Amino acid sequence: MDVPPPEVLSLPMVVPSKTLMGPGPSNCPPSVLQALSLPVLGHLHPECTKIMDDIKAGIQYVFQTKNELTLAVSASGHAGMEAVLCNLIEPGDKVLIAVNGIWGERANIMASRYGATVHRLEAALGTNFTLTEFEDAIRLHKPALLFVVQGESSTGVYQPLEGLGLICHKYNCLLVVDTVASLGGVPFYADRWEVDAVYTGSQKVLGAPPGITPISFSSRAQEKILARKTPPKVYYWDMTILGDYWSCFGRPRVYHHTISSTLLYGLREGLSLVGKEGIENVINRHKMCAQRLHKGLQAMGLQMLVAKESARLPTVTAVKVPENIDWTVVTGYAMKHYFLEISGGLGPTANKIFRIGIMGYNATNDNVDFVLKVLEEGINYARENRSAKL
Ligand code: GLV
Repeated sequence: MDVPPPEVLSLPMVVPSKTLMGPGPSNCPPSVLQALSLPVLGHLHPECTKIMDDIKAGIQYVFQTKNELTLAVSASGHAGMEAVLCNLIEPGDKVLIAVNGIWGERANIMASRYGATVHRLEAALGTNFTLTEFEDAIRLHKPALLFVVQGESSTGVYQPLEGLGLICHKYNCLLVVDTVASLGGVPFYADRWEVDAVYTGSQKVLGAPPGITPISFSSRAQEKILARKTPPKVYYWDMTILGDYWSCFGRPRVYHHTISSTLLYGLREGLSLVGKEGIENVINRHKMCAQRLHKGLQAMGLQMLVAKESARLPTVTAVKVPENIDWTVVTGYAMKHYFLEISGGLGPTANKIFRIGIMGYNATNDNVDFVLKVLEEGINYARENRSAKL
């Protein structure tokens, strides 16, 4: 052999049990972990395709939609963005991207790569957009598509969406919404709000592992995809073929790729738990926990990045790092002493904030109290040991 077997692979794998209270992934509930250990099935076995059908129904429930083009793509939540933009953008299309954090920036880059002429609507860090701002920008730029993030996990900002679909459709513009970090933490109604394309993360409120991403397209969006002059640039994301693999068009199922049956089990169980609790109760649980967390953070004298209470995302809280504190010492303390993940900022908020995630199985009062206690200890530790090296 030119390359010997790596010695490291003969050693046991190290996977500690951690409490994941960053912006995701969250901890999988025990029944999801059990589901993940079921035997692998072939991707076209009838039991596997039955699970895909169940998942499709579950995704329609969590998105509150009857869209027939509803499925899960085999990749992380970020791929939802890629798949939507790849399918809905044709070279030369005008696109409007609402940018108030890293996800709008990413959508901007992706849309440009798919050949769109991109216009940006920008909001200051920690703020969201008004319907008037959206309508003015749509009237000005006349885009074929508006991209909006419902829960900007890099800033902890919540974007209300009611009324936006109506405005978009008045100007013949499709509405695309990223709900990766928000779904299940705040209300979302794809059909009622006239959303044309939406995707979310499996690894956040839904409590499944990352790697499989719920996605759904309205009939308006579907028409645009079917009427494309050029095929979508990436075969892997092509909804005309993927839709047939997920049996979305009433035609016989055809092979597209080898889906991970294991991830399907995890997602199905996550969706099943949400269905049993009722999504409105899941949302309420997140709201209660977020209120408890925000109250606790403010009692500690910490400052929220998002000043306006109604613009705060319950699932990801952005809290400013206190002056003269090295945030890495605080998060390092939490991990070293408690195996607790608290995250730092991302993109425009890097080094400026802590991000605390309350998602899915982790959205409990006990976890909120735990994270508050450890954060306070960590900040005190960082204050007392300004040059601490952990
Ligand atoms: C990922 O979703 C992140 O916000 O870090």
